[in-house]
Amino acid sequence: MNSVVRDLALACVTVATLAGCTTNKGRCCKMSECGKSKASVTVSPFGKTKTGLEVKQFHLVGAGGVAMDVIDYGARVVRLWTPDRDGKLADITLGFNQVSGYEDIDLYFGSTIGRFGNRIRDGKFTLDGVTYTIPCNNDPGGIPCTLHGGTSGFNDRVWDSRTLTNGDDVGVEFTMTSPDGDQGYPGKLDVKVTYWLTAKNVWRLEYEAKTDKATPVNLTNHVYFNFHGEGNGTILDHELTLFADYMTPVNAGLIPTGDLAPVKGTPFDFTSPWKIGDRVNTKDNEQIKFGGGYDHNWVLRNQSGKLAAAAALYEKTSGRYMEVWTEEPGIQFYCGNFLTDSVPSKSGGHLTFRGGLALETQHYPDSPNKSSFPSVILRPGQLYKTATEYRFSTR
Ligand code: GAL
Repeated sequence: MNSVVRDLALACVTVATLAGCTTNKGRCCKMSECGKSKASVTVSPFGKTKTGLEVKQFHLVGAGGVAMDVIDYGARVVRLWTPDRDGKLADITLGFNQVSGYEDIDLYFGSTIGRFGNRIRDGKFTLDGVTYTIPCNNDPGGIPCTLHGGTSGFNDRVWDSRTLTNGDDVGVEFTMTSPDGDQGYPGKLDVKVTYWLTAKNVWRLEYEAKTDKATPVNLTNHVYFNFHGEGNGTILDHELTLFADYMTPVNAGLIPTGDLAPVKGTPFDFTSPWKIGDRVNTKDNEQIKFGGGYDHNWVLRNQSGKLAAAAALYEKTSGRYMEVWTEEPGIQFYCGNFLTDSVPSKSGGHLTFRGGLALETQHYPDSPNKSSFPSVILRPGQLYKTATEYRFSTR
């Protein structure tokens, strides 16, 4: 067997194994030729937190061939395998093989973010006449703010969990109670995040929350993608489309000014596909300078609260293509400007500057301090409910 044929055969066995394909018998194939596969979800130990809490891992195998590992620490994705156009699987998300990686290196890899995704100015907001102070844990440009919930966000909790199956779809439901006063936020918040992996290779995230006092809520997931496979170079050659005509410009502290700026004629125009690397270092652009590249919120065209396309990402050599669909009004595109080669990769090497990108569906940063932005306030008796889908395929 020549090496190409052998590699393809091996890739196919891996695809078949992960996908639970029983008819393939190692024969070289594409996903579509694998015949009937069976979805499954299995549980195993992932390790312990520094405080001794057991962390569980869930291995989800979708009937369409995509597979993922998620853990209850941070209700996060640890690994996500998708096939390239030849059916060869790669883990396309950044993460760590041990709990300590997540505890020691605070990059939010794959995690559920709450109570409030992205930044809140000065760690303060006023709600119904009361000013609340929440911890400042970040200071871009030397300007302190609260990032991703505070010093101990939802990424830092061990969630309750149960496995789910619904026909060919498999999932995990994560639940957690954030007590009144958690990180300074008002109200006891009951949160549910459900991950589904469908037979059509869709990773669907459903979020729900209820509160007993008015409080800001803005939940998202901070998965980082690299379609070459994690630890395998940068994302600068990935082609990105964003279904957005405006973005929310920021100050030097990465806090929105409150304006909505048209993207047309700027490096922020992704209304048609652009390679990320083409304009990421534009010299004379203040927004690029503040972000150290792309690290901004785009105002999605769809403001209806119904599921609609927000972004598309394509990488030519692997053929991997992904669409992001969401009910949220915004998306944070962050191109890994804080990643360095001091961060280990799961496969034994190391990451690199811009070695992954995040597409975080959300309400706009600092919304609690911006009355012109869509409201993020959840009140008693209301149900916070939103969904996002990452749809994987090849081209
Ligand atoms: C992003 C944020 C970035 C950075 C990153 C985590 O959501 O926009 O500025 O903080 O999270 O490293």
